[in-house]
Amino acid sequence: MTETIPGAADPLSRLDTSVAHSARLWNYLLGGKDNFAADREAAEQVLAFMPELVESARYNRGFLGRAVRHLAGEVGVRQFLDIGTGLPTADNTHEVAQRANPAARIVYVDNDPMVLVHARALLTSTPEGATNYIDADVRRPDAILAAAAETLDFDQPVAVMLLGIMNFVVDDDEAYAIVRKLVDAVPAGSYLVLSHPTKEVHAEAVEQAMQMWNSSGSAPICSRTPEQIARFFDGLEILEPGIVTASQWRPDGDDTTIVTEYAAVGRKN
Ligand SMILES: C[S@@+](CC[C@H](N)C(=O)[O-])C[C@H]1O[C@@H](n2cnc3c(N)ncnc32)[C@H](O)[C@@H]1O
Repeated sequence: MTETIPGAADPLSRLDTSVAHSARLWNYLLGGKDNFAADREAAEQVLAFMPELVESARYNRGFLGRAVRHLAGEVGVRQFLDIGTGLPTADNTHEVAQRANPAARIVYVDNDPMVLVHARALLTSTPEGATNYIDADVRRPDAILAAAAETLDFDQPVAVMLLGIMNFVVDDDEAYAIVRKLVDAVPAGSYLVLSHPTKEVHAEAVEQAMQMWNSSGSAPICSRTPEQIARFFDGLEILEPGIVTASQWRPDGDDTTIVTEYAAVGRKN
C-alpha cells in the first residue's frame, strides 16, 4: 500500500534525473544500480577526496540491521516508522524486523519519487505483518503521523527511525522540533533510532564533501557534533554504548572501523 500526503505534487513529475539526489547517491555507494549519471558523477567527485563515504554508507546500514534486530528480537517492538527509507537494498527494515517477528508492522516514508516506485514493488510484507509506504517530506511530521496511524497503533510502542535524514534539515530548531513532535506522538516503551554525519573524523574531507554537495543544486545537508546529535535524544534514555560511530553500536564481530556516521538508540520511559 502506498500513500501520498494530500497537497503533495505528483511523485513522478518530481523525478529530476539531471540533479544528484541523496537516495540515488547512497544507492550507488552501497553498490546498487538504481541511480543516474548525475548521481554517479556527484558520488565520484565526493569519493575522490572522501573515499571513506562508502564505508559510512555500509556501516550505517549495518547499524540499521543490528538496531532493528535488537528492538524487534530482544525488546519485542512490533512497530517501526522508518523515515528517510532510501532505495531498497539488502536487509531493509521490514525484512530484519519480520525475520524476528513476522507480525511486525512497518511504515516507510521518503520524499524521493524513485524510492516510491521501488518501494511499491519491493517493500512487501509477510502475510502476518504489514508494510506501508508514505510519500512525504520529513518536514511535515503531523501529516506523516496521521498517515502512519492507518498502519501503526500509536498506543503501542513504535521505533521511530531517522537514519541519515536529519542532516537534510539544516536548521537546528526545525530539526529538533520535528524529532520532538515524532517522539511526543509515541508512548512510553518506544524508541528513537538515529544516525547522522559528523566531522569528528575525517573533518576536512567531510567539510569539503558537504560544500561540494551544497553547491551542486541538490538538497543541502549539514553535519552535527555528537553534542548536537545528543539533543535529538533529550528526555530519552540513550542505550549502551551511547552515541558512537555506526560500526561500534553493538557490533557483531570485531570490525569497528571508525566512520563519519554516528548512531544511537534512545528509549522513551
Ligand atoms: C542518506 S539516505 C539514508 C537511507 C537510509 N535511511 C539508510 O540509512 O541507509 C537519505 C534518505 O532520506 C531521504 N530524504 C532526504 N531528505 C528528505 C526529506 N526532506 N523528507 C523525506 N525524505 C528525505 C532521501 O530520499 C534518502 O532516501
